[in-house]
Amino acid sequence: MTEIIASADHEARRLSRREFIKRVIASGAVASSASFVMSGCAPGARRAAVAGSVERLITLNVNGQDRRVDVLPQETLATTLRYKLGLTGTKLSCDRAECGACTVMIDDVTHYSCSTLTHTVRARKVVTVEGLRGPNGELHPVQQAFVDELGPQCGFCTPGQVVAAVALLKKNPKPTREQARHAMAGNLCRCAAYDNYLNAIMRAAGNTAEIHHGA
Ligand code: FES
Ligand code: FES
Repeated sequence: MTEIIASADHEARRLSRREFIKRVIASGAVASSASFVMSGCAPGARRAAVAGSVERLITLNVNGQDRRVDVLPQETLATTLRYKLGLTGTKLSCDRAECGACTVMIDDVTHYSCSTLTHTVRARKVVTVEGLRGPNGELHPVQQAFVDELGPQCGFCTPGQVVAAVALLKKNPKPTREQARHAMAGNLCRCAAYDNYLNAIMRAAGNTAEIHHGA
């Protein structure tokens, strides 16, 4: 009996590894679950495999929708959003939590998605720049203010700047210019459009006295 179980365990490991290699090569193009991998194996082997595995086919709440997606155990949220869910508004630049280009909101708080493991945001609400539009596709007031103030230059950092500004105004609807500058410090802009962005935030907040053109 012991030999039968050992043989089944060996077979389970062999199948798991084969499946693993296939999926790495297929770069997450196929759905995964431990029960699927282990179908046809002995019950003891199946239990052992499930206990040592990580569920990869998970549900994420992104922009108000539940999305089923196959996620590697150490995959970052930026990768999942951009390359598996097609939400390319979230940019990847430094990929090491330094620039803010990849900023998204998780439960209304900003996070660098390049440095957040996707598996840690299950059961939380993720909002990307694509999720800020109104029900009829209209721009979010912060996005409109960025347009009105001609905020971006090259635009690469802009989605992260917009998301960070939206999160700021959710927490503090009437920030001073200095408070906004402090709150936006985690979002770098190689074009140095910082004053444009601060003007836009002041406009979105209705604080026109602190819009400084030509500053
Ligand atoms: S790409 Fe994430 S902080 Fe720079
Ligand atoms: S507008 Fe070019 S990096 Fe910010």
